[in-house]
Amino acid sequence: MKKTIDDYYVPWIKPLKMYVSSHIDLAWEKPSLHRMMSNENPIPPSAKVLKTIAKYSKIANRYPDQGLVIRGKLAKMNGLSSPENVVIGNGSSEIFDMIYRAFLQPGDEVVQQTPCFGIYKLRCELFGGKIVSAPMTYKDKKMIYDVDGVINAVTDKTKVIVIANPNNPTGNFMDEKDFIKIVELGIPFVIDEAYIEYAGLKKSQSRLIKKYKNVIITRTMSKAYGLAGLQFGYLLADREVAMKIAASLLPWNVGTITMWAALTGLEDQKGLAKRVKFTNDQARLIEKAMSTIPGMIIFPTKANYVLFDAGGTGKNGDDIISFAKKKGMILRGQKTMYGSEGWFRVTIGTSQENKLFIKTMKEFFGKK
Ligand SMILES: Cc1ncc(COP(=O)(O)O)c(C=O)c1O
Repeated sequence: MKKTIDDYYVPWIKPLKMYVSSHIDLAWEKPSLHRMMSNENPIPPSAKVLKTIAKYSKIANRYPDQGLVIRGKLAKMNGLSSPENVVIGNGSSEIFDMIYRAFLQPGDEVVQQTPCFGIYKLRCELFGGKIVSAPMTYKDKKMIYDVDGVINAVTDKTKVIVIANPNNPTGNFMDEKDFIKIVELGIPFVIDEAYIEYAGLKKSQSRLIKKYKNVIITRTMSKAYGLAGLQFGYLLADREVAMKIAASLLPWNVGTITMWAALTGLEDQKGLAKRVKFTNDQARLIEKAMSTIPGMIIFPTKANYVLFDAGGTGKNGDDIISFAKKKGMILRGQKTMYGSEGWFRVTIGTSQENKLFIKTMKEFFGKK
């Protein structure tokens, strides 16, 4: 019998569909809605970045190089010796693809700590991998990394362990000593530092790279640097490891405009400090205002979003999100976990947006 195209797909792609971020689509469709859902930066790119974009757009007829200048800058900023310690990507989401491509075969496992960023699972499954989730511990109104849970989830099929630090959506850091416990397993250990700049690079685990070849740090300029629309991400690792992963790199994966604009962003550390201070101040404001709602559990954040569990208020996360949408803002939900349906997350917006968020929450929860 003649085969159809369905017979030719690799088995692991058959159950998968294109990933659509419906909340982002909605935001583009209805620009009047406040985008408080995707952990973007509310401050547009600086005049310096805009100037660079204009400059390089004039030579957009030329192919980019492999980012030697920006890779050199990133190595230096992170105390590493060479551009070969750095691999750049079309956002850090693409970096996960490269890592998985280098380590996963169909049937292999990736261990993650949940709740966490959805891309770890999505991209893992694309390579025929299986995601294994170890849940954080929810105790005393805190979400705590469960390092033993992560270690116990490891099998001889585990090829990658991934931990976000700080974690999205819980906003907290893992204990220093716990990194060592995981690193010592020798399994490729990806530490996703997408939000590290909000707490400062001193909180980074990048120093582990010098001692452990299995440590891979991922970063993005979509968050504190405010360049989500340009999609610039990178990894830091031991030189040999980085260059092995780079074998999977799609040549010219990062465009000229993006890489030079990203470099301008990196050079503007004063601009970064301003954005970080603004976000951190606004996060404190939101945490404080929300703490006046009886029964609300707030997860103090080290990043640009705050997670809440409204389970104790008797309200449901979906209802909160629908109400907020009617008031003009998109928030992000979190499926039922730990017996609560009250989860939701807000991204820090402009000060007007944050005021609107607080007002909306007070209205919803019946406080003046
Ligand atoms: C924990 C974490 N890692 C990575 C990313 C991806 O960033 P990007 O692909 O924009 O670089 C995000 C985005 O929300 C995130 O929350």
